[in-house]
Amino acid sequence: MDLDALVVGAGFSGLYQLHCLRDRLGLSVQVLEAAADLGGTWYWNRYPGARCDSESHSYCYFFSKELYQEWEWSERYPGPAEILRYLHHVADRFDLKRDIRFGARVVAACYDEGENLWEVTTAAGERYRATYLVSAVGCLSSANVPAIPGLESFAGRWYHTGEWPHEGVDFRGKRVGQIGTGSTGIQAAPVIAASAKHLTVFQRTAQYSVPARNAPLDAAFKRQVRESYDAIREVTRSTPNGHPFRIDRRNVFDVGEQERRAIYEAAWEKGGLQFRASFRDIVLDKAANDTAADFIKQKIRAVVRDPKTAAVLADIDHPYAAKRPPIDTDYFETFNRDNVALVDLRAEPIERITPAGVRTRAREYPLDIVVFATGFDAMTGPLFRMNIRGRDGLALRDAWREGPKTYLGLMAPGFPNLFTVTGPGSPSVLTNMPVAIEQHVEWITDCIGWMRANGVERCEPTARAAERWGVQVEEAANATLLPLATHSWYLGANVPGKPQVFMPYAGGLARYRALCDEIAARGYDGFVMEPSRAEAARP
Ligand SMILES: Cc1cc2nc3c(=O)[nH]c(=O)nc-3n(C[C@H](O)[C@H](O)[C@H](O)COP(=O)(O)OP(=O)(O)OC[C@H]3O[C@@H](n4cnc5c(N)ncnc54)[C@H](O)[C@@H]3O)c2cc1C
Ligand SMILES: NC(=O)c1ccc[n+]([C@@H]2O[C@H](COP(=O)([O-])OP(=O)(O)OC[C@H]3O[C@@H](n4cnc5c(N)ncnc54)[C@H](OP(=O)(O)O)[C@@H]3O)[C@@H](O)[C@H]2O)c1
Repeated sequence: MDLDALVVGAGFSGLYQLHCLRDRLGLSVQVLEAAADLGGTWYWNRYPGARCDSESHSYCYFFSKELYQEWEWSERYPGPAEILRYLHHVADRFDLKRDIRFGARVVAACYDEGENLWEVTTAAGERYRATYLVSAVGCLSSANVPAIPGLESFAGRWYHTGEWPHEGVDFRGKRVGQIGTGSTGIQAAPVIAASAKHLTVFQRTAQYSVPARNAPLDAAFKRQVRESYDAIREVTRSTPNGHPFRIDRRNVFDVGEQERRAIYEAAWEKGGLQFRASFRDIVLDKAANDTAADFIKQKIRAVVRDPKTAAVLADIDHPYAAKRPPIDTDYFETFNRDNVALVDLRAEPIERITPAGVRTRAREYPLDIVVFATGFDAMTGPLFRMNIRGRDGLALRDAWREGPKTYLGLMAPGFPNLFTVTGPGSPSVLTNMPVAIEQHVEWITDCIGWMRANGVERCEPTARAAERWGVQVEEAANATLLPLATHSWYLGANVPGKPQVFMPYAGGLARYRALCDEIAARGYDGFVMEPSRAEAARP
């Protein structure tokens, strides 16, 4: 049977996309999901210490006020179990599960121009055909296990945090090596250290981190959240990054040194990503940024007792928040434990993995377990893994050989009727993502609704629109300090051989939303809307 729409992925994006296309537009829709259950990121990332860095009262859907008000979060930053409970609640409430096929990994998606259909094949060989293909495969769903020679010879066990075994890993009595100190590694290390015999943290790039200050939410806060739905929603929609707080309007040098220090101290005590919002120009001006960077480096040196370890942890080579800034629970304190050691991979790079452990240029570290907290082939990785072929058999991989080419991060020239939720070129990973996801899903739904109402059978952006958008994405990034973190996954620099192009749109979610709405209001400016034959034949 030919479907109206196929959606790939059953995380925040896919679930809402199914609801919108099926229940608002009345289309026949099937969701294909590789995992055995829904949840996306939170299905896969069950490593020790995993939790949100968005605050719970904003890390959720806003499309239904009733849904928002009936759900109660227990903590400031929920972990996978609670987020999965929430997503199951959403799926049950909107009767979504009946249209999701689990254990169905898409391995090929080809556009048939004659039929104007996408033909999609799963790893099990099942075939589906649909007019619209919506990718909801996530930005961070393709685990990056570095190709370190000798991994296959390791006699112990190894795990990637993004594919963590659901039954958990018992670290008791074990010598554990953790490679990677991004947001994931910073969350995992304190929890692993608490049960392992010994933990060695292998750090390539030192990172800033601010305390999360996670805590249970009290009844008064929960009531206030319920009653403030409209106000909270309005803030998330009108700020550059979709968080439920505003970035302060003052600049770093509008205040004197003492006052600045007091502001940083208060933000440090409050904890969380709001630290970055203390001043307007923290991610815009290097001298301003230096004040935040220096403050955090001083904190690291004050917390970590061994001066050599502190120096390696505080030797950070990029501006604060130029990489997604982690928040933590006792990360730096962990290095004061007797059973934890830090290895500086800049001084002694990893040479290989041996049967006994990890060998660096300096020595071998004997290990029973290696944890790869090494991140993801972000944004383009999950799209390429679907082996998408568009018009004239053009492979997405080839079309994007020099970097992704999209219009608004929503569609790409050469790939008619293929929509990408949080695709490269959209604000996506620079935001509190559920807010960006809702905006994309609603735009896609409106676009498909418009096509059907206007007898349009094919929608595709022009190459010129995509080219111009690429320039805008680059300019938006260059107006910030983000490109100065030259090893960032925002740039694809974490995956050897990947073209280094700044992928997310850094111009802010509110501005981006306005742009997308304007383009739609102008009859989808920049898109070719091809009428159906019947429509074209009308006098
Ligand atoms: C550990 C971690 C913590 C995070 N914390 C935050 C946070 O606090 N705040 C925030 O805003 N964002 C956070 N993120 C980003 C997070 O990915 C988004 O918030 C959100 O969950 C993305 O939802 P999604 O549905 O777009 O993608 P995902 O949740 O990644 O879901 C995509 C789904 O597509 C499926 N899929 C992929 N390829 C295929 C295929 N070929 N065939 C079939 N199925 C496929 C995957 O199995 C997956 O289930 C975090 C990411 C990670 C890794
Ligand atoms: N809610 C949260 O708090 C939370 C938690 C986890 C993840 N996330 C999201 O997921 C994103 C990815 O986070 P992540 O920590 O999984 O990945 P990441 O930020 O890409 O960090 C990966 C780490 O592994 C290191 N690494 C990679 N390859 C290596 C190699 N070959 N040898 C040695 N070290 C290597 C990296 O070093 P280099 O820096 O030198 O490359 C980095 O320290 C985050 O930025 C965030 O958006 C959010």
